[in-house]
Amino acid sequence: LRVVIVKDYDEVGRRAAEFIAAAIRRKPDLVLGLATGSTPLGAYRELVRLRKEGLDFSRVKTFNLDEYFGIPHDHPQSYHRFMKENLFDHLNVKPENVSIPDGMAKDYREVCEEYERRINAAGGIDLQLLGIGRDGHIGFNEPGSSLASRTRLKTLTDQTLKDNSRFFGSEDAVPKLAVTMGVGTIMEAHRILLLASGPEKAQALKESLEGPVTSTITASVLQLHPLATFIVDEPAAAKLRWREYYLNVERLSREVGQEAGV
Ligand code: PGA
Repeated sequence: LRVVIVKDYDEVGRRAAEFIAAAIRRKPDLVLGLATGSTPLGAYRELVRLRKEGLDFSRVKTFNLDEYFGIPHDHPQSYHRFMKENLFDHLNVKPENVSIPDGMAKDYREVCEEYERRINAAGGIDLQLLGIGRDGHIGFNEPGSSLASRTRLKTLTDQTLKDNSRFFGSEDAVPKLAVTMGVGTIMEAHRILLLASGPEKAQALKESLEGPVTSTITASVLQLHPLATFIVDEPAAAKLRWREYYLNVERLSREVGQEAGV
């Protein structure tokens, strides 16, 4: 586990984009898992800038974590639209290499199984980007999600509906269900990169990193992942008991020129 504590939101975005860019340079046909929400936006802006400097996405395949149930792809708040406007319109990812769960499907079981098959056919996810919900969710794996779960339809918590109402204007307008990769699906990614910013994430982050592994905070399962990196800003890190240690580990890693974990 690596916990990288940086100053603020912008630095989270810069460091995350560097991390992703390095993975693409190492493996130009990277299978990249992507996330939505406010947190990854800074990283996406940086990736767009790196594209202008020549970073090549032409062989990259992407898989998004989740999509709301029952809203069309061109709905202003759909994750299809979010990804198009904030990332794909500005990169050279081939449309046939982009996968986002379909929130408008008639047969959910089939859609979810097909999504898992597509991930497998691509050879699995090399690097999965994650945010974290205030309730500790990853993807839309709300408290109580099986830690072995696969892609499926999930019911959102009141906390998530409240948090996401800022995009929809009112809580009532937020879809109550979403299709999401499962915790088990996420855990199969070769590498994980979780981003967190702001004081409202401090408690969830503390419980994820320093609490017991539990399905009530699904991000806590990342303690069992062999290659997980958390890039978080100072306000999000404020409640971490081992904050000083994490900072020392990163300082030492820079000094010896090696990536050391905690
Ligand atoms: P946010 O969402 O980045 O908009 O805070 C994170 C999440 O719910 O996973």
